[in-house]
Amino acid sequence: MRLNSPMTNPAPPALDIERLRAETPGCESVTHLNNAGSALPPAIVTQAQVDHLRLEESIGGYEAHARAQNHIDAVYDSVAALTHSRRDQVALLESATAAWGRGFAAIHNTRPLGAGDRVLASSNEYASNVLPILQLARSRGVTVEFIPDGTDGCTDVGAFTSMLGPDVAVVAVNHCPSQNGLVNDVAAIGTALRASGSDAWYLVDACQSVGQLPVSASVIGADFLSATGRKFLRGPRGTGFLVASDRAITELEPFPLDLHSAVWQSDGYEVASGATRFESWEKSYAALLGLGAAVDYALDCGIDALAARIQQLAGYARSSLAGVPGITVLDRGAHPSGIVTITHSSIPAPELAARIKSAGVNVSLSTPDYSRIDFDGHGVEGLVRISPHAYNTHDEIDTLVTIVVSLT
Ligand SMILES: Cc1ncc(COP(=O)(O)O)c(C=O)c1O
Repeated sequence: MRLNSPMTNPAPPALDIERLRAETPGCESVTHLNNAGSALPPAIVTQAQVDHLRLEESIGGYEAHARAQNHIDAVYDSVAALTHSRRDQVALLESATAAWGRGFAAIHNTRPLGAGDRVLASSNEYASNVLPILQLARSRGVTVEFIPDGTDGCTDVGAFTSMLGPDVAVVAVNHCPSQNGLVNDVAAIGTALRASGSDAWYLVDACQSVGQLPVSASVIGADFLSATGRKFLRGPRGTGFLVASDRAITELEPFPLDLHSAVWQSDGYEVASGATRFESWEKSYAALLGLGAAVDYALDCGIDALAARIQQLAGYARSSLAGVPGITVLDRGAHPSGIVTITHSSIPAPELAARIKSAGVNVSLSTPDYSRIDFDGHGVEGLVRISPHAYNTHDEIDTLVTIVVSLT
């Protein structure tokens, strides 16, 4: 499969769906189509956390840490394998927002952004990434410009290229936005950025793409690639990671430092050499080990196979829902992601989401404050998001569609 693209290999290895379901205890109790929110974890992910918590309980937190050190180190290798990067480029954090924020803060700490600096952001950028940029616009006069969408609804690479100039300091693009089914061509944007000779810092939000699509930090060419554990990766809540480029590691100094990201010396301090400079000292090692188990599980399944299955189920949901009177499928892009979004002509999105959930299917509601430019630009006041994972079935999609039909 082409990296960073939803295009599927014509013959990805088949997944054993019965086995995936047997390894996912939640499948017995819920129909969970909210994997873009927080997926059902495989039992092995929960087990990794419980085992470590029990070890902490019986021998002490620091002692458990020391005993699990090899497993903890291996999590960096797993994330590096997942993102086609090196372990010294990986920082483990508590969320995608924390990861993105650590990168952005390091950029601003190293060369403060201010009047005369332009930040270019995809129109579908996530609120938690846009808000710190808006803070600098308000407090320091940074200019924020949103990159227009192309005719297919995705970030327009040509328009982006024409916006570039020596005053562009930061480019922030979402790979798979939370609130629509599109996949931005973040590799083409990265290539266009570097071909222009720009030295702007490039931040890519891969929060919704890791675990559902192949993602290569090196092919994308991002200075910072941020992601979370709990969504399509099926890891624990409270986990996330950042993959930093060599340039970001050598040229940027995070703020604030702590005694893990730097060493306090008699005559000053020395910042850690790898991407651990973007981490903090204290962590939930149980959650971190759960993240490692989730990444290994996804790699064992095969990312291509997961991507193909998720695409198949999302496509089935889209085509089935498109035939329901009153329903509009909003997803854009030639190759949509595993996120399916709908509205109803007469039932407001909050009510539609609530009624589907009370009928027994987990879906979620997205509101304009998640991605203001995207929602306002398309006149959408709210939508229902359906996000299948590989362990879901066509029967579960049929159940959802039957519920939606019964509401109309
Ligand atoms: C596209 C996108 N980026 C970032 C985030 C933030 O992730 P986290 O809550 O782990 O910080 C989300 C969460 O839904 C998201 O969908």
